[in-house]
Amino acid sequence: MILVTGGAGFIGSNFVLDWLAENGEPVLNLDALTYAGNLETLETVMDDPRHVFVQGNICDRNLLDGVLEKYRPRAIVHFAAESHVDRSIHGPGEFIHTNIEGTFTLLEAARAYWNMLEGTERESFRFLHVSTDEVYGSLQMDDAPFTEENPYQPNSPYAASKAASDHLARAWFHTYGLPVVTSNCSNNYGPFQFPEKLIPLTIVNAFAGKPLPVYGDGLNVRDWLYVGDHCRALRIVLSQGRPGQTYNVGGENEKTNIDIVRTVCTLLDELWPDDAAGRRDRLITFVTDRPGHDRRYAINAKKIRQELGWRPAETFESGLRKTVQWYLAHPRWVADVQSGAYRDWLAVQYGMANDMM
Ligand code: NAD
Ligand code: DAU
Repeated sequence: MILVTGGAGFIGSNFVLDWLAENGEPVLNLDALTYAGNLETLETVMDDPRHVFVQGNICDRNLLDGVLEKYRPRAIVHFAAESHVDRSIHGPGEFIHTNIEGTFTLLEAARAYWNMLEGTERESFRFLHVSTDEVYGSLQMDDAPFTEENPYQPNSPYAASKAASDHLARAWFHTYGLPVVTSNCSNNYGPFQFPEKLIPLTIVNAFAGKPLPVYGDGLNVRDWLYVGDHCRALRIVLSQGRPGQTYNVGGENEKTNIDIVRTVCTLLDELWPDDAAGRRDRLITFVTDRPGHDRRYAINAKKIRQELGWRPAETFESGLRKTVQWYLAHPRWVADVQSGAYRDWLAVQYGMANDMM
């Protein structure tokens, strides 16, 4: 089997569901179930004997040693992290703890386990470290997209913590020979994304007739990738990626934030018109900018395309339409994640009054 950390979060759960559908090999899913972890997302596989869920923290070395010894995975796919930039600005401590100390603890547990393996089990073992393009910092509008050779220039506490974890993963390969492969991906969107991130927040607020907060001038650029394409890239990197290498993964699909928000509004107006209230773009509200807000991210995905033959299957238009349709079709999932803790977050981040939430 393989061990997946953070498999109850957005990308991790999509990966687990895709993996079981496409590959079928059993998965040991280790997740601490923070605010971002949600077992409802995994309800279709909770009784599947190929899916073993363990609630646990990657900072807990004893627990990690125990599950590695008991389940003897042939690979680790490491998603578990604190992932939201705005939360890292309000409270960086958890990001240092999980993303840096947690990754360190997991690398150490993996190293001890791998050192016990022999023969082909040892040779074929892989540690796939899932990271982000934010480690490269911010691009000017006329800069070339990030390649794997770009220097690390993380700007937010989140990005700095992920950069540190990438450096640890790299060092564990160079110093100890642990067969680590790292992927650095651009912004994902798709089903099961927690509505604190731009696209799901815009969908659920626009549907409910609430304000659509756009930071600053709305002209920051992100490179958007449908989560299913990311999951397929990770399966390929896990099976064919070379230890010690990093692979950039991205949609080569740059959009400004204001374009994203307007496109979501147009899609909702088409799929779920609200003739009485009018067009959803009336809800767009420019708010104070994110401190240190990176202006532009863009990925050059040539290496993974040429070396491993991956390219995205989804266009932004088809992926976003699927995503909006998914949120419209899953009101219970949306209502359940908008719990008290979610409302507290909206109050902290946007200062929204209760009747706006
Ligand atoms: P997420 O916040 O939706 O999910 C994170 C998961 O990790 C949750 O299920 C949470 O319960 C779990 N977790 C958190 N701390 C833990 C701990 N200490 N021990 C065990 N589990 C813990 O995140 P996501 O958006 O799915 O991102 C997954 C990974 O992909 C992260 O490493 C992130 O940096 C990276 N990434 C995300 C994106 C994106 O656009 N979302 C893009 C590139 C890379
Ligand atoms: O680039 C990969 C990264 O993408 C991942 O590593 C992170 O885990 C993931 O959260 C994402 O980071 P971003 O900060 O780019 O994503 P977010 O959805 O928070 O914001 C996208 C853009 O939209 C960003 O420029 C900030 C802006 N924004 C965001 C929110 C939540 C708004 O304008 N309004 C908002 O309310």
